[in-house]
Amino acid sequence: MARHLITSAIPYINGIKHLGNLVGSQLPADLYARYQRGRGNEVLFLCATDEHGTPAELAAKKAGKPVAEYCAEMHAVQAEIARGFRLSFDHFGRSSSPQNHELTQHFAGKLAENGLIREVSESQIYSKTDGRFLPDRYIEGICPNCGYDKARGDQCENCTKQLDPTDLIEPRSAISGSTDLEVRETKHLYLMQAGMRGQLNDWIDSQEDWPLLTTSIARKWLNDGDGLQDRGITRDLDWGIPVRRGKEPWPGMEGKVFYVWFDAPIEYIACAGEWAEATGQDDAAWQRWWRTDKGADDVRYTQFMGKDNVPFHTLSFPATILGSGEPWKLVDYIKSFNYLNYDGGQFSTSQGRGVFMDQALDILPPDYWRWWLLSHAPESSDSEFTWKNFQTSVNKDLADVLGNFVSRVTKFCRSKFGEAVPEAGTFGPEEHALIDSLTIRLRNYETHMEAMEVRKSAAELRGIWVAGNEYLQSVAPWTTFKTDPDKAAAQIRLALNLVRFYAVLSAPFVPDAASDMLAAMQTVDDSWPDDVPAALSVLEPGHIFTVPEVAFAKISDEQREDWQARFSGVRT
Ligand code: MF3
Ligand code: ZN
Repeated sequence: MARHLITSAIPYINGIKHLGNLVGSQLPADLYARYQRGRGNEVLFLCATDEHGTPAELAAKKAGKPVAEYCAEMHAVQAEIARGFRLSFDHFGRSSSPQNHELTQHFAGKLAENGLIREVSESQIYSKTDGRFLPDRYIEGICPNCGYDKARGDQCENCTKQLDPTDLIEPRSAISGSTDLEVRETKHLYLMQAGMRGQLNDWIDSQEDWPLLTTSIARKWLNDGDGLQDRGITRDLDWGIPVRRGKEPWPGMEGKVFYVWFDAPIEYIACAGEWAEATGQDDAAWQRWWRTDKGADDVRYTQFMGKDNVPFHTLSFPATILGSGEPWKLVDYIKSFNYLNYDGGQFSTSQGRGVFMDQALDILPPDYWRWWLLSHAPESSDSEFTWKNFQTSVNKDLADVLGNFVSRVTKFCRSKFGEAVPEAGTFGPEEHALIDSLTIRLRNYETHMEAMEVRKSAAELRGIWVAGNEYLQSVAPWTTFKTDPDKAAAQIRLALNLVRFYAVLSAPFVPDAASDMLAAMQTVDDSWPDDVPAALSVLEPGHIFTVPEVAFAKISDEQREDWQARFSGVRT
């Protein structure tokens, strides 16, 4: 049994995420976690909220709440929505947890011990209007790299370049818009990652099978000279993890906190500790996932994220891990995604443009969204959500193909043979041909799922559904029944078994429909069909089933137009 540690980039706490965020990390991570569990492997699937730094402070301020209270509330909201989308995290943690405080301070202490931290007296932007320093997102301006005019002080959203606030051209305060800024001196800790270029380069070079999107971004920032500059890992903020050197105070750093991008990836580890605590287990339980000296050497660790997150996961976080000199598990595979656009423009949290996760669940059940998003995942390029495309996919793939198959087969059987798997008849050439072709398709599906080729997996799954429909169409049991009822019985016996087979294969994509299908077939056997002929005779003659409710209702033109109009504006 293989062991899979799977993490999704941890979403910022500030507000509800849009569908572009969902498809760029949490949803494909869930697909993979469900698949690996389905194959009988041991999985630890973790996610959390990213609660520190300027995004959290700014959002709390806007909501008129103390930041700790705001974060606790938003964590609960995001957790509920994650459940709504059936994201099957083993634990949904918080980067503000005591475990992360302790681990972040621990890593900083180790890095200092290993000579990888230096103190820098640096010039920082101070806003006289706001009466404070303006780190990271508190400041906006023009990107020196690409000229984008809404670049933030920590990173340019447009070209993914990591920035320092002082890099911005024509900087302005994100709080007041003021340009009455001056540069003042303050002391900070820097992680000396520039000296680790060789080590990081070798590590990235040794990853033969990483997706091109991941390695090209990593190499770009590794080789362009300043992508791997030493980086400040502390900030003049109130909210965050206090700077300490392990358990000791850090002289000169009083009142400062660690930079959010330093503590956030460490939460991947801390979250495993939170999971152990929440499930009443000891430290050994989480360490066997994260410490190669404590059992994690046979773990395969996969991370999922949007492309803007790649530099932090290929350079900064590995620098922290390697620099600690301790036997922490390094990531084995980084699956990254391009952006999903919305109806001719970009999804945007700051501008409230697009469909947000809560709104999506208000109008349709999770399977509809999961299917469309995953089957259109922005893998090799950016992709686009349009209501028309969404309607077409859902109606065709889910209603006409999968839903229709299930309902046709079960209803026909009920009317001609009753609500039990019919006994008569034997399989002929058509049945054997179907089983052979499904075997080939299933092996392709497994290959794509193993490789996290999300779109290809969806296409193969759809092909598997279509094969069943085509079989049914061509053998036409409703016609056969008139002349050879035994033959029709054998055809329906196979088709009913296909319902269970489809449920098992489809569960990673459409978990609710899958469990409804298993429930209708009155079976709890969801074992993976390693042997297809055997899997297609699990429901034996005489086995009782029920006709399920309509699994997928079609989206009408009226609904589509209504939603398109409703979501054309800006969320307030
Ligand atoms: N919150 C970040 C984002 O949404 C992702 C953080 S991932 C981690 O872009 F590695 F830092 F945890
Ligand atoms: Zn830029």
